[in-house]
Amino acid sequence: MFSKTLIEKLKNLQCTAALTGAGVSAESGVPTFRGKDGIWKKMKPQELASIEGFMKNPELVWEWYKMRREIISNVECNPGHKALARMEDFIPEFWLITQNVDDLHNKAGSRNVLELHGNILRNKCIKCQKIYTETDFDASSALPRCSCGGLLRPDVVWFGEMLPAEILHSAFYASKKCDVFLSIGTSAQVQPAASLPVLAKDSGAYVVEINKERTPISDYVDEVITGQSGEILPDLIKAVWG
Ligand code: OAD
Repeated sequence: MFSKTLIEKLKNLQCTAALTGAGVSAESGVPTFRGKDGIWKKMKPQELASIEGFMKNPELVWEWYKMRREIISNVECNPGHKALARMEDFIPEFWLITQNVDDLHNKAGSRNVLELHGNILRNKCIKCQKIYTETDFDASSALPRCSCGGLLRPDVVWFGEMLPAEILHSAFYASKKCDVFLSIGTSAQVQPAASLPVLAKDSGAYVVEINKERTPISDYVDEVITGQSGEILPDLIKAVWG
C-alpha cells in the first residue's frame, strides 16, 4: 500500500509536516464540511461562521456552537489521531498542522499542534479579545459576556477572517522545511491551508495525500493513498517503524 520511497524517507529523514482536515475526525463521529452529508450542505456558513452572521443573530450562532461542542465532548480520538501523536515520537522534527477545531489531536497526545482555524473549546471577547476557556464563563447563558461587557464568541476562524499570524507563519515554515508532507482528510479547497501541500512540493518535499476521495491536489502530489485515515495511519506506522 505504501511506496518504498515513502517508507525510506519517513525512516531516515529529519522533518515531516502533516496537514489534517475534517476527514481525520470523521471516524470519531465528527461531521465533515463538504461531501453529501457535509455540514455546509445543510447549514449556511455566512449565517453561522462569519462575524456578520454573529452580529445579526448571536444567539443562533451560540446555539449551533453549543451543539457542536456537545458532539465533540461525546466523541473519542480515533486510531488516526493516535498514530499522528505516535509519529511525533519517531520523527526528529514533526509538525502537525490542523484545520480542525475539535481538540482531538491534543486529546490524542500530539504536542506540536498548529491550530490554523482555532479551537472550539476556547472563547474570546469581541471587544477586548480576552480568552476564556470552557469552564471560566457561564456556558448556560444564551449570550455569554466578558467581564468588560463585550460579547464572547468561539475562538475559531470564521469566513473572511485572518488566520492567527504566528501559527500561519509556523505552518509556512514547516511546509517549506519538511522532507515529507502528508495531506490527510482534507478536501484541499480552503485557503491558505490548501496552499501548504503545494508550497511543500515546490520546496522539494515528497508530498503524500491520504483521503477517501481524490481532491484538487491529487494530480500534483507524489503519492495518493486512498482510504480511511484511521486505518491507513496505524498501518503506515507499522510499515515504517514496525
Ligand atoms: P472537508 O469537509 O472540506 O473535507 C473533508 C475531506 O475528508 C474530504 O476530502 C473527504 O473525502 C475526506 N475524508 C472523509 N472521511 C475520511 C476518512 N475517514 N479518512 C480520510 N479522508 C476522509 O473538510 P476540510 O478540508 O477540513 O473551516 O475543510 C476545511 C475547512 O472548511 C474547515 O476547517 C472549515 C470548513 O469551512 C472553517 O470553519 C474556517
